[in-house]
Amino acid sequence: MAPQIVPATNDAIVDAARLLRDGKLLSFPTETVYGLGGDATNDAAVARIFAAKARPRFNPLIVHIPGLTEAAALAIVDERARLAIERFWPRPLTLVLRRRRDSGVSLLASAGLDTLALRAPAHAVARELLRAAGRPVAAPSANRSGRVSPTTAHHVAMDFDNEIALILDGGPSPVGVESTVLDLTNANPVLLRPGGVTLEALHAVFDQIELPGSGESKPRSPGRLPSHYAPSLPVRLDATSARPGEALLAIGPHAPPGFAEVLWLSINDDLAEAAANLFAMLRRLDRPEFTGIAVMPIPEEGLGRAINDRLRRAAAPRT
Ligand code: TXA
Ligand code: MG
Repeated sequence: MAPQIVPATNDAIVDAARLLRDGKLLSFPTETVYGLGGDATNDAAVARIFAAKARPRFNPLIVHIPGLTEAAALAIVDERARLAIERFWPRPLTLVLRRRRDSGVSLLASAGLDTLALRAPAHAVARELLRAAGRPVAAPSANRSGRVSPTTAHHVAMDFDNEIALILDGGPSPVGVESTVLDLTNANPVLLRPGGVTLEALHAVFDQIELPGSGESKPRSPGRLPSHYAPSLPVRLDATSARPGEALLAIGPHAPPGFAEVLWLSINDDLAEAAANLFAMLRRLDRPEFTGIAVMPIPEEGLGRAINDRLRRAAAPRT
């Protein structure tokens, strides 16, 4: 049975917080995508998150908190981290910091690492829920592992049955791609995942940011598998002409002719609009009547980096 979708009223949020404290899982909206949340300090709840998503246990979870005070209680917040927090939170920026031994966060949540990924979401419902729960909430995106991330309550309901107690409906997620993950445990900050806070914005605070695969340290985000965000149909990038039976994700006013169906990520080349539409449109085109989903070239700048990252993984060979 699909989980119950409940409008995120104040009462519903208070009830949801109680469920969280009881070790139940629920889905809640954030500004990026919907999360699948559980009490981060409860080993059994965290184990249920991995089981519900069929997520490999070596892929650690992001821990959601209201802000700086909670971050400092769970992890070492040095000057550099404080700067990032004061400048960017609450926004889609996740920081990887050294975890405190007494943080109380389940070791399973951070896959046994000595670091923690912390994020203060901006969405009003997520913030209310975190305040009402009064404890850190581990929350990956609320999709089955490897599938397209959810930006509506309905998307979540399509992926899960009674593994989750309820889905708080706060409308479509406005940013539409997941948070940027920045590792601050090395000499230079390392961008582990491009996301809702752009590299350009981060450069306003940090001059040296290493991209994965560059630089000396080459740290990896443990769970970043090449194939991810994948619809059932094959995905083809940088499409400039149609192949038989393909559907198209278009950007800008001039779409090449001959596609079986066209959805516009943004007709105005607006990358924020394209990001907000990305996952929902991938799902809408994922229909057996098409042979594949082609995507027009997206500029590798601003939010385009996050969009291209998700699309490259959606197009990667499936294992
Ligand atoms: O926008 C988001 O971040 C959404 C919403 C729900 O907040 N959450 C999300 O979680 O995208 P998830 O689990 O789908 O992605 C978590 C990412 C993974 O790439 C994981 O490898 C990385 O964060 N991560 C988590 N803990 C880490 C750690 N200690 N060190 C390095 N990477 C970590
Ligand atoms: Mg995810």
